[in-house]
Amino acid sequence: MNRIEIVEGDITRMTVDAIVNAANASLLGGGGVDGAIHRTAGPQLLKECRRLGGCRTGEAKITRGYALPARYVIHTVGPVWHGGTQQEASLLASCYESCMVLAQEYRLKSIAFPAISCGLYGYPLGQAAEIAITTISRSLTPGHSLEKVYLVCFGADVAAAYRDCFNRLKGASA
Ligand code: APR
Repeated sequence: MNRIEIVEGDITRMTVDAIVNAANASLLGGGGVDGAIHRTAGPQLLKECRRLGGCRTGEAKITRGYALPARYVIHTVGPVWHGGTQQEASLLASCYESCMVLAQEYRLKSIAFPAISCGLYGYPLGQAAEIAITTISRSLTPGHSLEKVYLVCFGADVAAAYRDCFNRLKGASA
């Protein structure tokens, strides 16, 4: 848990080894954080994404970051919230796991995640925050290359939900 930090801000401004994009299955851009990342990275990001052949929900693919301050972008596709009856929790956990596996493969030292699925895809913030923090914590084994994981919250409401969850889980694990 001590390698995880919750910050409030714009993920496209994070100077880390990789930022995570909450993409859609086409990987061809969209709104929200996906749109912001593509706008900041520039057209070469889309050009590389076109060659990836899409991405399945719960999986992740990595590209360069181009004009972003981050060296890489890890694109993952979160589940659309349908009320919790269609494996949404396990698919969201799989997003975080897949990103953590790629970070290890690329020996990354720092990564920044947005609140995957918590915007257009409608995932309830509190439940998503718990899945994010527990899944990342579980993946952060002593041998993992990551020294820092930022959870970047876009707005005070997201930050409050993440901080509440983080403090509750930290207290429980103490
Ligand atoms: N930096 C950090 N977080 C951001 C930023 C940003 N610049 N812009 C938006 N967010 C936050 C949103 O406020 C939300 O908390 O990212 C979280 C995820 O929201 P979305 O971007 O809407 O992503 P998601 O809910 O996973 O829906 C994905 O939206 O943009 C399309 O192409 C994308 O179809 C896909 C869908």
